[in-house]
Amino acid sequence: MKKHIAKPFVKWVGGKTQLINDIEKLLPKDFSLQKDLTYIEPFVGGGAILFWILQKYPNIKKAIINDINSNLTSTYTIIKDKPNKLISALKDIENTYCTLDESKRKDYFLIQRQRFNKERLSKIENSALFIFLNRTCFNGLYRENSKGEFNVPFGKYKNPLICDEETILKDSSLLQKVDILTGDFEKTLSFANENTFFYLDPPYKPITTTSSFTSYSKETFNDNEQIRLGEFCNKISSLKSNFILSNSDVKTFQNDNFFEDIYSQFQIQRVLASRMINAKADKRGKLNELIITNIENTNLIRV
Ligand SMILES: C[S@@+](CC[C@H](N)C(=O)[O-])C[C@H]1O[C@@H](n2cnc3c(N)ncnc32)[C@H](O)[C@@H]1O
Repeated sequence: MKKHIAKPFVKWVGGKTQLINDIEKLLPKDFSLQKDLTYIEPFVGGGAILFWILQKYPNIKKAIINDINSNLTSTYTIIKDKPNKLISALKDIENTYCTLDESKRKDYFLIQRQRFNKERLSKIENSALFIFLNRTCFNGLYRENSKGEFNVPFGKYKNPLICDEETILKDSSLLQKVDILTGDFEKTLSFANENTFFYLDPPYKPITTTSSFTSYSKETFNDNEQIRLGEFCNKISSLKSNFILSNSDVKTFQNDNFFEDIYSQFQIQRVLASRMINAKADKRGKLNELIITNIENTNLIRV
């Protein structure tokens, strides 16, 4: 029987499944042997790296995840604590949705989106709707308007998987050793010490003004935020934490030394990755991304 693999329970813009190999190569040689290791992910999003690393390295004793999106983090908490209740709420939604034709599905989607934004729901219902909307909205985006309301339109999918029971259960078992925080990334600073490894995947700096997708929530992540994150990396590094951070390659695309300046004391590597942010499928292609780290590694060339 195929062993079920824990993986993101939502589709998330900027999901990092494709960077796993590049990230793994940069981990310290003795990573799998380290005891008392804590994994910290301050911008967890869909958690592609979180779920991979917790399965691959069972020596990780504890993990701390954080995101500014409270609907997302409360869904992580429900998956951790009440997976079966969530599964049953999702099955109810799935049973109703699958019997509807396309125009009725759209109406149903809009009604549930309205309820999600306006009504006081139980935590289980809020998480079930969060997952339902993610699975049935256009491109699985999460975007909020200035009032903090989810405003992504309906997406036409033939058979969206609304209740992925096996993934929820597998994720839930891994989340038992994870503390889930909600808020700004700086909240995780107090956990930094020589036994912690940070993976940081902030909203990327846009490579052109039209391709930007930096507003996952009503708060935007602008250049000042990127600079504040650079200072955060200096702090965790001086507290002897290891870190790996990914971001966009604005130097290759715009001859902009922005990240070279911010991360001048660390190692910067360029890797190829497909970015799925362009709404037009034919415009999605392979772009360089930056991986920045303070982990000493002789294979790395400074650029
Ligand atoms: C690029 S995504 C992370 C993608 C994730 N690594 C994955 O594989 O799905 C960036 C995340 O940062 C979150 N975010 C934005 N501003 C933040 C802040 N100031 N502090 C913490 N999280 C923030 C967004 O809600 C979003 O989930």
